[in-house]
Amino acid sequence: MKTLDIAVIPGDGIGKEVVPEALRVLDAIEQVHGGLKFNYTHYPWSCEYYIETGKMMPDDGLEQLSSFDAIFLGAVGDPTLVPDHVSLGGLLLKIRRGFEQVINVRPAKMLKGLVSPLRDPKDFDIMIVRENSEGEYSSIGGRVHSGMDEVVVQNAVFTKKGVSRVMEYGFDIAGKRGGHLTSATKSNGIAHSMPFWDEVFKEMAENYPDIRTRSEHIDALSAFFVTKPETLDVVVASNLFGDILSDIGAAIMGSIGIAPAGNINLNGKFPSMFEPVHGSAPDIYGKGIANPIGQIWTAKMMLDHLGEMEMGAIVLAAIEETLESGIKTGDIGGSSNTAEVTDAIIASIQKHA
Ligand code: NAI
Ligand code: MG
Repeated sequence: MKTLDIAVIPGDGIGKEVVPEALRVLDAIEQVHGGLKFNYTHYPWSCEYYIETGKMMPDDGLEQLSSFDAIFLGAVGDPTLVPDHVSLGGLLLKIRRGFEQVINVRPAKMLKGLVSPLRDPKDFDIMIVRENSEGEYSSIGGRVHSGMDEVVVQNAVFTKKGVSRVMEYGFDIAGKRGGHLTSATKSNGIAHSMPFWDEVFKEMAENYPDIRTRSEHIDALSAFFVTKPETLDVVVASNLFGDILSDIGAAIMGSIGIAPAGNINLNGKFPSMFEPVHGSAPDIYGKGIANPIGQIWTAKMMLDHLGEMEMGAIVLAAIEETLESGIKTGDIGGSSNTAEVTDAIIASIQKHA
């Protein structure tokens, strides 16, 4: 029996509704698999927890989480209780930074049964691999003087280590998918960091002779996400470029309620964390109508990460079958509730097992 220890943090708002639904799906996966067992430890860390204790998580929170195989998170944020910068900074960002989750991965895939805002989209299946620790989001710089004399400097930091590891991850994923890798660059406009980025990409490509590579400037690449997403497979990008591309990726899929993400620790010292792209959606919380697919697809990414790719594929197929059968929540044009969508996904998993 393979046992996986999972830390579960539902967080706030609809996180508390969709996380239990995704766990029901994982229960079904356990049954289908036969040799897999999830050991869940639940943590109540959230804005309500903050109101009770003055903290988003205890001082030794990271220590408590450090030995799990993965962290499964819902959403954080309830601005009526705690300002967003305090709640996200005190939990989400602490985990991402403390656990050196230096890469963010997000798929953008055309799901059967879902309406993309693109007109007549061809079947696309993109995986965006974003550098998540440095680049354009490094807080180095400053401001001097005032008025018309004011000078502002914002530095971007690209280290050989940071760039190499994100590219290596991109190549590895492309290899596993039997696909190809596109690098997002802008070496025709950014004189130092992006030529360096291209150099490392070229160097690294020599280690992966079987993987086809492409470099595209970020402006053109952003347009390709809209005009011909079917020509892309794995895309590796710096922090800023990856941030923008992953939002375009979520947009062309059709709804924020379905998009998943992984924050990946690469050095093996700490667990990785899986969470949907959406937030706590206070506007629909408590009504039982949140789309559970973002959280369930997140569970699929966690399964893939933990080496259970076959189970991950079963979950995704069940999501697509459910969408195709018209069982959908309101955000994607249906009239089913959260539990009905989950029930249909579980039934599909059991049917095909
Ligand atoms: P949001 O993603 O929570 O909601 C944006 C819109 O999308 C809302 O209309 C919401 O109803 C809808 N939506 C989101 N997820 C949905 C789902 N699963 N099913 C159906 N509809 C869904 O973003 P918003 O409103 O900007 O932020 C709300 C709170 O969440 C804030 O406190 C914010 O800081 C936090 N947040 C947390 C994130 C995280 O934990 N990673 C990410 C984004 C926001
Ligand atoms: Mg963003």
